Amino acid sequence: MSMIPDETVDQVRESADLVGLIGEAVELKRTGSDYRGPCPFHGGTHRNFAVIPKKNRYYCFVCHESGDVFSWLMKRFGMDYPTAVREAARRAGIVIPEGPSRSGPDPREPLFEAVAVAQDWFTRQLLESPDAVVARDYLSGREISLEIAGQHGLGFAPAGRGFLAAMKELGLEDKVLLEAGLSAARDDGTVIPRFRARLLFPIHDFRGRVAGFGGRLLVPGEPKYLNSPETPIFHKGKQLYNLHQAKSAIRKEESVLLVEGYFDVFRLVLAGIEHVVAPLGTSLTAEQAGLLRRFAPAATLLYDSDQAGLRATFRAGDELLRHGVRVRVATMPAGEDPDTLVRRGGAGALQPILEDGIDVLERKIQLLEQKGWFEGVEHQREALDRLLPTIRAAADPITRDLYLKAVAERTGVSREVLREQAAARPPSPSPTPPPPDGLARVEAKPVRPVKRRRAEDLGAERDLLRVLMKEPAWLARAATEVPVDWFETSALREVYEALRRSPENAGSGIFLEQLSADARRAWTWLNGWEAKYGAPEPDVTYVAACRALEARPLRRQLAALNRKKSEGALTSEEYETLVRERQRLTTELSSRYPEELLKRKLRRGDVDAR
Ligand code: UTP
Ligand code: MN
Repeated sequence: MSMIPDETVDQVRESADLVGLIGEAVELKRTGSDYRGPCPFHGGTHRNFAVIPKKNRYYCFVCHESGDVFSWLMKRFGMDYPTAVREAARRAGIVIPEGPSRSGPDPREPLFEAVAVAQDWFTRQLLESPDAVVARDYLSGREISLEIAGQHGLGFAPAGRGFLAAMKELGLEDKVLLEAGLSAARDDGTVIPRFRARLLFPIHDFRGRVAGFGGRLLVPGEPKYLNSPETPIFHKGKQLYNLHQAKSAIRKEESVLLVEGYFDVFRLVLAGIEHVVAPLGTSLTAEQAGLLRRFAPAATLLYDSDQAGLRATFRAGDELLRHGVRVRVATMPAGEDPDTLVRRGGAGALQPILEDGIDVLERKIQLLEQKGWFEGVEHQREALDRLLPTIRAAADPITRDLYLKAVAERTGVSREVLREQAAARPPSPSPTPPPPDGLARVEAKPVRPVKRRRAEDLGAERDLLRVLMKEPAWLARAATEVPVDWFETSALREVYEALRRSPENAGSGIFLEQLSADARRAWTWLNGWEAKYGAPEPDVTYVAACRALEARPLRRQLAALNRKKSEGALTSEEYETLVRERQRLTTELSSRYPEELLKRKLRRGDVDAR
């Protein structure tokens, strides 16, 4: 970060509209030459908090918090100092000259800049543009006032290409827009805005700088939420929504509240619950769990109570346990999410639910009990299989011991045996496909070597690579769209990684040298296909293969359910749950990936292949 000259800092401080800024969060009334309101720092109800325009400072007569525009932004929004100065400057319309810097300019600075400019524009669209009426209606339907939305920097990305023209006018280069994930290059070389017809939530990095967006679609279509892609400044597996603002509250509460979605966080923050964060459209990653551990020793998971929500709960729970975080699970009434609950009943509606939260292992036991899984030896064995991963995950020795005790008591299996069992398998570092049943088996069972399924998966991986090895433009697109772990065949994954690393050398001697023997064989094998069948049609093949790989987890869940159903031995309640879940998955699969169901039918011979 380059140094900001002192005189600029002073100028920004003097020009700040502190009354306006603080007035966004605190209800201020004029008294004489000052403004008074309830203190947000100690949560007072009387008007002991003063904003003094003459000095451009604030002060609380009770808790003695005081400061200027920068400390306000730092304390209320979790910004670091340079970010606060830049934010205040932006609001005051002051341009900060790029001064000399000790460590050289951050090469990512232009990306932050581009994202900030874009955010400004998106917000202005939301507030003013005639095209944004759909977004404004949507917000009012969800009982979020435009004023609040504007204050929190929500925005609207219109459907057309107006965004690109506007950015050009503001002096942002195409290259920077692409790199910042704000636009995307199509295969024919044309560039389109990444976000179209979406309501945008800004996603801040740890220091309070906007790094990307999460966008909710406002017209029918998929996906419902689209995030910024991975960029040098946005990492969905390493950042958390709202962490920048929540971090001091998390420290103070010694606990973090984890919810599923942007709207949930937003609503809770509006209701005054500050220690809340959400992952960014993926299940909680190890890195995110580690990050949270730096702020608090405990977490409460407040996810939906449906099957998917439970699955996510236990996955996140085990991840947090692995990082030594104590985990509680709060259970919401069916059909509610934190957003709807708090919208209707305020923070008060959430309080009893949080208070009723129980330890994550207790919650697992409770669910198993409700299903009658502690009756009968056979069931007990299964119940144990579900509890062991959580015991295993507990990195904190005391928690682990308590877990062993609780499970021993509940099942009658001795602690020694349980301890041995818990130690038998090390926690798997990257659990593969999410299991289908309500209680996550975090350590997924080894994938059964079903021949046909393997062949089919391999086919999509192979076809995709065949395109990427020949087509640099598609490779560039894949770099933003195709995560490395879509390639489950390790040799193919290696080839893909090598292609991404050095696209210009594909096939050269240097290129082959960096590959392992397996990957080199895979390369030869891929070339063999080429020789035999010719180059695949890039656009058709790319899209089809990507969709097949993307649909793979869903497909597997469905297959696993079908297996379980045919294995039988289910109570009628379990059977019903299973059938419902299967119905849900089928519907999801057929709406998002209709071709998958068609392929299945083709394989089963249900429809005529011609
Ligand atoms: P939900 O589908 O539960 O969203 O996904 P929601 O918050 O209830 O959304 P509304 O209330 O219908 O608007 C929860 C979270 O999962 C991520 C988003 O972060 C979302 O907030 N998600 C969901 C995606 O990333 N992509 C999707 O297509 C759907
Ligand atoms: Mn919701």
